[in-house]
Amino acid sequence: MKILIVGSNGQLGTDCRGILAQEHEVCGLDIPAIDIGDERSVAACIAAEKPQVIVNCAAYTAVDACEDHVEECWRANALGPKHLAMAARERGCRLIHVSTDYVFDGQRQPPASYDEADPVKPLSQYGKSKLAGEQAVREICDNHVILRTAWLYSAFGKNFLKTMLHLALAAPEAERKVVNDQYGSLTWSYTLAQQIRKLLDSGLTGVFHATAEGHSTWYEGACFFLETMGVPHRLRPCATSEYPTKAHRPANSILENRRLHEANISAFVSWQEDIVTFVDMYRDHLLNEAKGLIAAP
Ligand SMILES: NC(=O)c1ccc[n+]([C@@H]2O[C@H](COP(=O)([O-])OP(=O)(O)OC[C@H]3O[C@@H](n4cnc5c(N)ncnc54)[C@H](OP(=O)(O)O)[C@@H]3O)[C@@H](O)[C@H]2O)c1
Repeated sequence: MKILIVGSNGQLGTDCRGILAQEHEVCGLDIPAIDIGDERSVAACIAAEKPQVIVNCAAYTAVDACEDHVEECWRANALGPKHLAMAARERGCRLIHVSTDYVFDGQRQPPASYDEADPVKPLSQYGKSKLAGEQAVREICDNHVILRTAWLYSAFGKNFLKTMLHLALAAPEAERKVVNDQYGSLTWSYTLAQQIRKLLDSGLTGVFHATAEGHSTWYEGACFFLETMGVPHRLRPCATSEYPTKAHRPANSILENRRLHEANISAFVSWQEDIVTFVDMYRDHLLNEAKGLIAAP
């Protein structure tokens, strides 16, 4: 199968390139070679590559920056998927699109979770724009899969776990407050890429929740990661109110992967198991990268 991965230099895009290329012919494009906010750029790239499947990993993912850069955020997260869906319909391709837990308002008391049938109510520009992207994909391209994932981390690119590592190594004596009243599931993009491979084989369509099993707070996740890395830390739990951010985030975005379980095709294990494997595979890479950042002038 010929697969076009869009946003191929990001966290998930990089892992998708590696995993999907094991069985398929893969082409990866990222900005500026493709700009999903530009209908003509999308049409030209799809016409040139002639894929049978498009995997959209591209997005404007800086959640707080979305509040200040509303136009860019909506261009990538809402218009982009619309253009990809139009091109996919035109060519008769399958479209795998990635969305977010931030389409929910998180008002449920943890550990209650959200499944695919639950009503959405995003709180932020990021969540609203991603929901608009989902709606465009659903309306325009019948042959679609929408995967809602959460709290992604990867060996490639920037993420919360890498930030925690960098801070712990840069100033081991400094106390850091980390939010301990937002609940979700830290999800490894490598496992999500494996899930995408399984979904491709299944031929299923529609919305799927796709996160690691189990849940934690940001604080619990950061402590588990640093302790698995063997890096001393002085993290302290705090409330969201003590760490104000530009964008409102759901207090509970625990997702239940109900449809993946029903179809018996889940690739996910517990978030702790994935972090242990992640650290086994990338410990030296992560340490060297963090130390390089600290040493940089
Ligand atoms: N990261 C998370 O915690 C998280 C949580 C839930 C859901 N998700 C969703 O998961 C998917 C993958 O996230 P990720 O963390 O892998 O994202 P990422 O690392 O930020 O990668 C996104 C890629 O898309 C590119 N891009 C941005 N605007 C583009 C445009 N107009 N045209 C083409 N490419 C463009 C980015 O380029 P630049 O870097 O140059 O902008 C980047 O290479 C996204 O749909 C995201 O919304 C992520």
